[in-house]
Amino acid sequence: MSILTVSNLKKSFDGESVLEDVSFTLEKGDCLAILGNSGSGKSTLLRCINLLERPDSGTILFEGENILSHSANENRLRSRINMVFQSFNLFANMSVLDNCMLAQRKVLRRSKEEARRISLENLAKVGLKEKCDALPSTLSGGQKQRVAIARSLCMNPEIILFDEPTSALDPMMVAEVCNVMSSLREEGVTMILVTHQIEFARNISSKTLFLHQGKVDLCAPTEEAFLHPSPRFAEFLKVERSL
Ligand SMILES: Nc1ncnc2c1ncn2[C@@H]1O[C@H](COP(=O)(O)OP(=O)(O)OP(=O)(O)O)[C@@H](O)[C@H]1O
Ligand SMILES: [Mg+2]
Repeated sequence: MSILTVSNLKKSFDGESVLEDVSFTLEKGDCLAILGNSGSGKSTLLRCINLLERPDSGTILFEGENILSHSANENRLRSRINMVFQSFNLFANMSVLDNCMLAQRKVLRRSKEEARRISLENLAKVGLKEKCDALPSTLSGGQKQRVAIARSLCMNPEIILFDEPTSALDPMMVAEVCNVMSSLREEGVTMILVTHQIEFARNISSKTLFLHQGKVDLCAPTEEAFLHPSPRFAEFLKVERSL
């Protein structure tokens, strides 16, 4: 069974269609790259998958269960399908450690000691254990994003969603975040990545989905997608690479 099966997802805002009949499947251990022009619906699609938006129709099966049914517990689901945001979304008034502990305590009901231990483990994994008492405002962009990734890992999510995790970063910081993501990939973490970094997407992903005006233009194993792109995907690659 696929870990995630998205079928015929539709979403519009104020009568404007943003997602049309979007379908794809994700297997455990997959890294799916979602590429597409600005406004093609990439963020909206990710937001539907962790219930930050409600699609108008379609189904999202996560481990066989439809997460759009009203019985789904949103906070619980967001711990299992966890999102890492472009703008980090750390709590400014809390230390790095407290940022990592909060949802573990509130959603997973872990004890203080356990949440602390798991936070330090994951901060070590992203190379930031020594920053545990720091406030986010004292960190670089790359460090903030690594904290956000550690915080996500603390929830033991089955899937991590990354929405342009490096696009708010200076070029110097991009590599350190990409390296952390590559090591997660080597560990077999299942992820969906929205990015404009085409070569990184190509290197890290097992599957590529190209969205064009809210529709799936192409969804294929990454190697195949880049070797035999659809006409629209080829045009997109040409433009992105020339930037
Ligand atoms: N909450 C909202 N209300 C109204 N329109 C919205 C809302 N969220 C997104 N949209 C519109 O939906 C379309 C798709 O937006 P989305 O953010 O999903 O695109 P994207 O592919 O992530 O673009 P980018 O690469 O710039 O991040 C855009 O036209 C956007 O203006
Ligand atoms: Mg977006």
